[in-house]
Amino acid sequence: MEWNTILLEKEGNIALLTINRPKALNALNPEVLTELGQAVDAISADDEIFVVILKGAGEKAFVAGADITAMKDMTALEGRNFGQLGQEVFKKLEYMPKPIIAAINGFALGGGCELAMACDIRVASEKSKFGQPEVGLGITPGFAGTQRLPRLVGKGRAKELIYTADIIGAADAHRIGLVNHVVPEDQLLEFCKNMAKRIASKGQIAVRLCKSAIDQGLEMDVDKGIAYEAEVFGLCFATTDQTEGMTAFVEKRKPNFTGK
Ligand code: CAA
Repeated sequence: MEWNTILLEKEGNIALLTINRPKALNALNPEVLTELGQAVDAISADDEIFVVILKGAGEKAFVAGADITAMKDMTALEGRNFGQLGQEVFKKLEYMPKPIIAAINGFALGGGCELAMACDIRVASEKSKFGQPEVGLGITPGFAGTQRLPRLVGKGRAKELIYTADIIGAADAHRIGLVNHVVPEDQLLEFCKNMAKRIASKGQIAVRLCKSAIDQGLEMDVDKGIAYEAEVFGLCFATTDQTEGMTAFVEKRKPNFTGK
């Protein structure tokens, strides 16, 4: 499928998903959000794709936020609908079965930081910048930043970032747990591809069940989360991948997973 603002490329079992609007620093307008949702649906339905890397086109930005020009004259109803569109697309991306790594190559502000937070894993280049600048525009974060940021970095740090609209660098983002790794700019994509390949070499049913157990489990109380883990753990024993993974261990060879 072809989109105006989204690129989807495949390298083996890894998908490279690019927000492709570099002239506006990949700002998210309704078209980008709609196309991003369609691309996520296409990825979910594609059995060849095991792991996704999400990046921004150009040298400067991952995503510099929701599109301010598009939002400027919105009514309250339009603003709510726009917020809900972003929230729904990000939820679709967060809950798609396949792991998604954000490769953050520059500004990840507002909706861009919120998009990165909807990914499973965040890797940042040394020059990347993070923040929720919305209050400086007279609005709140609208694509679930008030919900995902405190869950990721804790309530106090999230409140400071959101109330002050401060922009922080990659080292601080790493220190507070907003990103998993910081790497030199010229190594960012290679680093993410290596991680994606390591994930893609494992049993994919197990990887997907791990994602579900973590994401669903965090929405439950701990006893329900633990019970859910027992269910998914049990499910693994109905798969060929479990037989293959354990037989390969016993036979001292590499497993040949088939995703069945
Ligand atoms: N929306 C629309 N256009 C944007 C944009 C955005 N969020 N961010 C950048 N652009 C556009 C600029 O208007 C500019 O366009 P023109 O060339 O047509 O003038 C182009 O991208 C390049 O940007 P700059 O010239 O500003 O580049 P810079 O290097 O001087 O500054 C920047 C970079 C600091 C990221 C600056 O562009 C900026 O502050 N952008 C806005 C960041 C922001 O406030 N994001 C939050 C948006 S609100 C939000 O996201 C709400 C939500 O939670 C849903």
